[in-house]
Amino acid sequence: MKNTHYSKIRGKKVIVTGGLGFVGHNLVKTLVNDFDCKVIVVDDCTNSSESVIDPVKDKVEFHRISVLDTEHFFPLLKDVHYIFHLACIQIAASGAEPVKDMQVNAQSTLQLLEEIRNGNYPMLDRFVYTSSCSVYGSTSHLPLDENDPTRVLSNYAATKLLGEHYTLIYNRNYNVPVSVVRYSNVYGYGQSPRNPYCGVLGKFVHNALTGQALTVVGDGEQTRDYTFISDAVDATILAAVHPLAYGDVFNVGTGNESSVNRLVELITGYAPGSEVITVPERDIDNIRRRVVDIEKIHQRLGWVPKISIQKGIQVTMDWYKTTL
Ligand SMILES: NC(=O)c1ccc[n+]([C@@H]2O[C@H](COP(=O)([O-])OP(=O)(O)OC[C@H]3O[C@@H](n4cnc5c(N)ncnc54)[C@H](O)[C@@H]3O)[C@@H](O)[C@H]2O)c1
Repeated sequence: MKNTHYSKIRGKKVIVTGGLGFVGHNLVKTLVNDFDCKVIVVDDCTNSSESVIDPVKDKVEFHRISVLDTEHFFPLLKDVHYIFHLACIQIAASGAEPVKDMQVNAQSTLQLLEEIRNGNYPMLDRFVYTSSCSVYGSTSHLPLDENDPTRVLSNYAATKLLGEHYTLIYNRNYNVPVSVVRYSNVYGYGQSPRNPYCGVLGKFVHNALTGQALTVVGDGEQTRDYTFISDAVDATILAAVHPLAYGDVFNVGTGNESSVNRLVELITGYAPGSEVITVPERDIDNIRRRVVDIEKIHQRLGWVPKISIQKGIQVTMDWYKTTL
């Protein structure tokens, strides 16, 4: 993290909602270990457990509350410099629990922005909303840049996009200091394989290391742009501290497309002998190919991803081996 803007967050008071989640707890650890931040974690453990922050628990204030519980949540915002709003209902749960999905992903964002607008938060430097590249939905061309149309295909994408819109509107209309990052398929250490929403890469790594089959859906030529966790965390902090990230939205990915078959090839390279089976296509995030353009975050903020898919899978497999 050579960019000089990072030093702005050093020692600051920070809130991370969803701070026990996959991205959240990695962000919390980095803020504590690398930046000496005073971190408040707000998470209701819907999709996580408190033990993930054990290594930093003495330096973190944890509140097991919902972001919708404004009575207990909002008093924690006092004197906070940065808010990272990560709490979410995952894509795979958003169809089964559409109202909860809307409440956590969008309504909580609106309530927070209203509180910031009406409350007294002179210390607040930035509110960061973590969105998703799933907001692009069905596309006619690749790679996708931030000006491309959004044609959402799931409840999750709809509510993440609504959260983004609220965030940017509160910046334009009320000068709330905000930034938005759109992550593309984050993977890596700290992603629990027991979590039903851990994504294809996490499942493959887990299965390969536990002697279970890797299940390829369809022909395996579906592609995504996989972002390693440390790169996602790095970009998120930069979006909070960089003056040119103010009031804007940035893709966070690698600009490289990897197919499911390529993941299988890389993972079985590290865990030879894994069985691979094929099942018919399913209808969850039915986009065949996705890769994002990262020129904007590169040109404007000076950010580039550091970890290739080969390296990322290797590091992830090493991490799983030590935790299994
Ligand atoms: N992981 C990815 O690939 C990815 C991709 C695109 C966008 N994102 C976004 O990044 C953020 C973090 O994602 P993640 O992968 O870490 O998800 P995650 O499910 O691992 O973490 C989300 C956390 O939010 C918590 N939560 C849920 N409802 C809550 C509530 N009402 N109050 C408080 N906490 C609540 C969960 O317990 C969980 O710890 C989310 O906003 C997500 O939309 C993630």
